[in-house]
Amino acid sequence: MQVVSISSLKGGVGKTSVTLGLASAALAAGIPTLVVDLDPHADATTGLGVRPSRQDDIGRMLRNPRRADPASHVAPSGWVATAKQEHSPGRQVLDVAFGSAYTGIYDRPDLRRRDLVRLVKVLSDVTGYALVLIDCPPSLNGLTRMAWMASDRVLLVAEPSLFSVAGTERTMRALDLFREEFAPDLVTAGVVANRVRAGSSEHMYRMAEMRTMFGEQLLEPTIAEQANWQQIQGAAHSIHQWPGESARQAAATFDELLKHFTDSGRRRRQPAQPEAKLAEAGSTSG
Ligand SMILES: Nc1ncnc2c1ncn2[C@@H]1O[C@H](COP(=O)(O)OP(=O)(O)OP(=O)(O)O)[C@@H](O)[C@H]1O
Ligand SMILES: [Mg+2]
Repeated sequence: MQVVSISSLKGGVGKTSVTLGLASAALAAGIPTLVVDLDPHADATTGLGVRPSRQDDIGRMLRNPRRADPASHVAPSGWVATAKQEHSPGRQVLDVAFGSAYTGIYDRPDLRRRDLVRLVKVLSDVTGYALVLIDCPPSLNGLTRMAWMASDRVLLVAEPSLFSVAGTERTMRALDLFREEFAPDLVTAGVVANRVRAGSSEHMYRMAEMRTMFGEQLLEPTIAEQANWQQIQGAAHSIHQWPGESARQAAATFDELLKHFTDSGRRRRQPAQPEAKLAEAGSTSG
C-alpha cells in the first residue's frame, strides 16, 4: 500500500481537486484506493459523493486510533456505482475515510510526537488498497504533519502565481525539516502545477521560474485551468465520468500524473512492496 499526501501550505491552489482527479484516475484504472479526508472542511468527502451514515469520521478514528476499526467506518464513493453502471474495467474500489469539522481539534501547531502518529496507527489496520490519498488542509499544523508522518510520498500542488510559487518553496523547506526530524524515508513526489493557462504570459513566466526552482521535481503534465471544473465537482462527479472533450483531456492529464506513483515511483525508490502491488492492481481487469 502506497500512501500519498497531497499538500500545500497555501490555501485554494487545488489540493482537493488534485486528490479527486487522482482518485478518479485510480478508479478508472482499477486501482483499489482509499481517500483520507483530513481537511476539517471535508471538501473531498463532498466531491466524492459520500453519504456518511452513523460511521465514524476520520477525526473520531484519530481520537482513539487503536480502536478505530477503519474497515467498518470507511464509506464507498458515490462514483463507484456510476463506474459499475458504465461497466468500467477493474475492481472499482474507491473508499473514503470521511472528513468533518471534528478533525479540527488536531490542527494545532504544538502536537506531540505521540499525537503525530495517530494516523499511522489508524492506517496500520487498513488493508485491501494499493493506494491511499490524503487530502491535507492548507497549513503545517498537526493534521498535515500527521499526514506526512503516515505517508510514503508528498505531492505538492502549486499555481503559477507569485504567492503560490513562494509558498511551495516554503513547503519544500518545511518538508525537508520534517524529514530530518521525523521521517527520513519520506519522499517528495514532486510539484504539480494547477490552473495553468497556456495563453497567459504571467503563467508562462511563473512556470519557467518553477522549472528553475524545482528542476525535475516539477511534474509533467501540468493541469490546465478547466472552465467546467466547479460544475463537475458541484455535481459530485468523477472527471472520468463527465461527458465532453475538456473533461476527457483533464481525465487524461490525471491518468498521466497517476503514473508518477506507479511507473516512475520505481526509479525514485528501491523496489518495494507498494509499487509491486500498484502495478499488480493496475493490470487487473474484469
Ligand atoms: N484546474 C482547475 N481549473 C478550474 N478550477 C479549478 C482548478 N483547480 C481547482 N479549481 C477550483 O479552485 C477552487 C479551489 O480548489 P480546491 O478546493 O481544490 O483547492 P484546495 O487547495 O483544496 O483549497 P483549500 O486550501 O481550501 O483546501 C475550487 O473551486 C476548484 O473547483
Ligand atoms: Mg481542499
